[in-house]
Amino acid sequence: MKRILVATLNKGKIREIKDILKDTGIEILTPDDINKPVMVEEDGKTFLENAVKKATAWMKATGIGSLADDSGLEVISLGGRPGVRSARFAGDNATDSDNVRLLLKSMEGIRDRRARFVCEVALALRDGRIITARGEYEGIILKSPVGENGFGYDPIFFDPSTGKTFAQLSGKEKNALSHRRRALTSLREKLVEQGIIKTSMGDAEAIT
Ligand code: IMP
Repeated sequence: MKRILVATLNKGKIREIKDILKDTGIEILTPDDINKPVMVEEDGKTFLENAVKKATAWMKATGIGSLADDSGLEVISLGGRPGVRSARFAGDNATDSDNVRLLLKSMEGIRDRRARFVCEVALALRDGRIITARGEYEGIILKSPVGENGFGYDPIFFDPSTGKTFAQLSGKEKNALSHRRRALTSLREKLVEQGIIKTSMGDAEAIT
């Protein structure tokens, strides 16, 4: 089998993961391709714990090798918050703009605006193996949102290397450098090392 299921309902993540993996030769399925979404409580203390939990639950429920992404924003001066609670920072049903608003409020008067996006990915294979990889990307939190693209905290995350927020970058530009790109590149290397795919680019043989 040469296919994996992207184990998330987050449309922003699905779009980016599909784009980043498009040249691997792996067929990427999404929750729209299966009957029923799998609901998983994200109660882990770390991104890694949550990613493994989600990938395993989706693989067991569907019988398809499943790739989960647990990610978020760590602000240095807030001791790493919102961290694993990034999606629910302003409450269980919070929207991206609720979360951005609360973060900006929490950082009023704070001069140290350094932050990092973290992405931990886990691929749960049908034979029980779980392969994980991490990517990080450092930036600066602005005082107000700029840009329309991306999702989540992208409009307030300024990337010094491009001089733009992640929401000002095109999808292609963000996916060429982001924490998610770094995590998935590292995952691809591990899949090749472990003989699960033949090459990190091009033809993907034997995903189980
Ligand atoms: P998760 O579903 O618990 O992994 O939540 C991830 C949350 O972290 C998202 O809902 C966003 O708020 C934030 N996040 C993760 N990756 C990104 C990104 O690439 N850009 C902006 N926000 C992100």
